[in-house]
Amino acid sequence: MAAHTTRKIAASDAAEAASLLAGGALVAFPTETVYGLGANATNGEAVARIYEAKGRPSFNPLIVHVANLEAAQEIAEFNDAALALAQAFWPGPLSLVLPLKQNHKLSSLVTAGLDTVAIRVPAHPLAQQLLKLATCPVAAPSANPSGQISPTTAEHVLDGLAGRIDAVLAGGSCEVGLESTIVSTTPPQLLRPGGLPLESLEAALGGPLSQDLNPDTPAAPGQLSSHYAPEARVVQNQTDGSHILGFGAVDGIRNLSPAGDLREAAANLFALLREMDTLVGPGGQISVAPIPNTGLGLAINDRLTRAAAPRG
Ligand code: TXA
Ligand code: MG
Repeated sequence: MAAHTTRKIAASDAAEAASLLAGGALVAFPTETVYGLGANATNGEAVARIYEAKGRPSFNPLIVHVANLEAAQEIAEFNDAALALAQAFWPGPLSLVLPLKQNHKLSSLVTAGLDTVAIRVPAHPLAQQLLKLATCPVAAPSANPSGQISPTTAEHVLDGLAGRIDAVLAGGSCEVGLESTIVSTTPPQLLRPGGLPLESLEAALGGPLSQDLNPDTPAAPGQLSSHYAPEARVVQNQTDGSHILGFGAVDGIRNLSPAGDLREAAANLFALLREMDTLVGPGGQISVAPIPNTGLGLAINDRLTRAAAPRG
């Protein structure tokens, strides 16, 4: 891959980022969950460069980003449950896995040859602006090298991918800070906990949602058990140690949320894991305070368990 300079594009120049994207460039952009590494989803070569830039070992299917439900309906079939979830939670931190339509124009690399596709309508105003201006569906995994911590600022993106991508559209810190929740809809099933709490989904569906989170037989093939890994060792549910990442009353050298607010903790998670990694150094240990397993705590604990898993 030719090394080249990665441009940082100001939020006021979203139109430029959109025309680069539409023309086949790799452009990272903010969403309310994490920064995505975007490519025109109808352009197979552009999509291939995503895998190259991230150093992904395999062609996992990617999430396709569009501006609204109408654009999503040009790509995929919506049953009643899918429509209800889209209407309740889009734009927002929810990705739906749906059957592909006959005449979709996506590169088969986006779906890894599956007959379903994961689609998301992000709420971040800059992502909305970019998607409307680009007028093409945008495939985007998180904008980090494969296996590393997801980026929640433009600087995180550059730390990992400078020289490997064409541009990053700079839009500040991500408000949610965790990847989207992924749900398949035939029948409804949770594939990945994320920025939209399970409880909200169940309330909208009027009943419990079954879960398929088994990392060894992944329905969401990106759900490998060792993922989101810092250099240091991560140990969960610790209340003392020399390098505690605190939560609530369990304080440490950093605290995800001194007030014990799960939303604040989610927004801080990836940035503080990066900081702790630098503080602790290679071979060190990050001890993470207990996080309750409700609301966004489910997704926070999912990411921490992956960060703590033995490295493959
Ligand atoms: O918040 C997010 O979801 C971020 C931002 C950038 O939108 N994107 C993101 O994408 O996390 P990525 O590529 O890291 O995660 C994609 C996940 C993987 O677990 C993948 O296996 C699953 O979506 N996925 C994609 N298409 C699928 C399909 N057809 N069936 C099942 N799982 C699918
Ligand atoms: Mg990722």
